[in-house]
Amino acid sequence: ALIGKGGYRHFMQKEIFEQPAVIGDTLTSYVDPLKRRVALPEVSCDLGNLPRLTISACGTAYIAGLVAKYWLEQIARQPVEIDVASELRYREAPLPEGGAALFISQSGETIDTLAALRYAKAEGQHILSVVNVPESIIARESNAVLPTLAGPEIGVASTKAFTTQLVVLACLTLAIGRAKGSLTANREAALSEALLEVPQRAAEVLAMDAQFIGIAQELAEARDVLYMARGSLYPLALEGALKLKEISYIHAEGYAAGELKHGPIALIDDLVPVVVCAPSGPLLTKTLSNVEEVVARGGRVILLSDAEGLAQASDGVAHRIELPKVDPFVAPILYALPVQLLAYHTAVAKGTDVDQPRNLAKSVTVE
Ligand code: G6P
Repeated sequence: ALIGKGGYRHFMQKEIFEQPAVIGDTLTSYVDPLKRRVALPEVSCDLGNLPRLTISACGTAYIAGLVAKYWLEQIARQPVEIDVASELRYREAPLPEGGAALFISQSGETIDTLAALRYAKAEGQHILSVVNVPESIIARESNAVLPTLAGPEIGVASTKAFTTQLVVLACLTLAIGRAKGSLTANREAALSEALLEVPQRAAEVLAMDAQFIGIAQELAEARDVLYMARGSLYPLALEGALKLKEISYIHAEGYAAGELKHGPIALIDDLVPVVVCAPSGPLLTKTLSNVEEVVARGGRVILLSDAEGLAQASDGVAHRIELPKVDPFVAPILYALPVQLLAYHTAVAKGTDVDQPRNLAKSVTVE
């Protein structure tokens, strides 16, 4: 079927704005709202007894896997290893007996991800996949498939596939946590509830769209942009930087905020914007002290936080973006939207081809 832009200027913009709906669709198939617990499709392996879960993927799907590592280890107490597929396929890593491997792919056709899957299968792993295309080759070669319900994604830069992957991975975390006995029923109910609120909170972020346009004008002038965050938000710094470089061609790097003083702080001056994702939660004060270090060196900080976080931030912050306050568990999903909007509006300001950025392909099926 022919898919139109439905009144939006670009597919990417349309897909960003579809997120409350497709996150909701994905949640509907994974969370029972009355029992407030997750219900995964049949996975045919004992999720409570995996010595290790090996995750692999490429690009934005890899970044979704990185968020899942934080969730699975912290909340479900499940040991995880993660690697980009182009490395896992050649690394000859020993994979543990009785282990499972999880592959994440929007298209389900990425050649490196498929090769890593076949390697893991040869190593005796139970193969799980999170894919957006159920009839894809990665889905067909998996023992169990956890589908995302993002619908077709046309923009080369992944947006709604990423947030729906995060939703599925969050549900997998709760399912593994329950199977391992690491989560009480009350805690699972509270975290499920936090997930069920995401579509509404995401719609609130999209309603703030105009706020990102002005800041994007400033980003469009930059040669380099740094992104930083901690914990489960650290992968969002990577994703923010990846989105910006993919579609605006501005050099950007994502850093774990604690690593700032081990290198990138040398770059800070008033020409390098620093985008910081710092929702309130246990790591807020640590991240805000890194913000302080940037401000002290004349850096222009764009701080994404909630009212509570912003109230504690340095006066020297150049731009404050007040996002809705959510349970720290779901913050990585919500904070995807502002980093997407910043990249999108920066690319529009620069006049690049947002949906078909140079040198990039939607799906990389040759090595
Ligand atoms: C390409 C796309 C990215 C995507 C990556 C992985 O590089 O441009 O947006 O994240 O492939 O694709 P997949 O279909 O496996 O998720």
